[in-house]
Amino acid sequence: MRIDILTILPRLLDGPFADSILNRAQKNGLCEIHIHNIRDYSTDKHKSVDDYQFGGGAGMVMLIQPIADCIDKLKAEREYDEIIYLTPDGDRLNQSMCNTFSLGKNLLMICGHYKGIDQRLRDHYVTREISIGDYVLSGGELAAAVLVDAIVRLIPGVMNDETSALTDSFQDNLLAPPVYTRPAEYNGWKVPDVLTSGNFKVIDEWRMQQAFEKTKTRRPDLL
Ligand code: ADE
Repeated sequence: MRIDILTILPRLLDGPFADSILNRAQKNGLCEIHIHNIRDYSTDKHKSVDDYQFGGGAGMVMLIQPIADCIDKLKAEREYDEIIYLTPDGDRLNQSMCNTFSLGKNLLMICGHYKGIDQRLRDHYVTREISIGDYVLSGGELAAAVLVDAIVRLIPGVMNDETSALTDSFQDNLLAPPVYTRPAEYNGWKVPDVLTSGNFKVIDEWRMQQAFEKTKTRRPDLL
């Protein structure tokens, strides 16, 4: 999979992809992440990327030209499964969307700032508008990093068995059950007997029951 990210703050994206699973995925050739500085595409002599909004009001709006030129260049080189705009007024991200995105070949993400991008970019280029939750970040970069992480870990081959995505919370609309590791007793706090019983059928049933109870209490909307 190839992911292109358009941003005015490329340095914000240096960190999230440089370590752990996302770094390994890139090294193993399972995904390529390309960061594009929107300012590099500005034809304006001051390299502007934003301007005042028509109709007045506080806050700047990101200009069409640099973003459109960058997208046009990338689209001439390959087809994109989705052109995603990260925005708090988008569809709220969930695991099932991540599963679908992870099947794509090429994804393009646009990070907004200030009041956001000119609506005409949304009308004529963007195919999906995604929010990572009902709160407002200072820009779309951290949201893009969250989205990339949630997608890339699902690409076949990225995670090994120990980190299998199949037993994650939300994969079957259930929150994950509690997990324990050694020692079996710490400070008098004991691991549930069932987990040390060696009976995997009973262990599976216990985990399912725990997942169900947790979901019923914390997220009944998922059931
Ligand atoms: N940009 C600012 N806030 C955001 C959010 N909650 N989700 C996606 N992009 C954003």
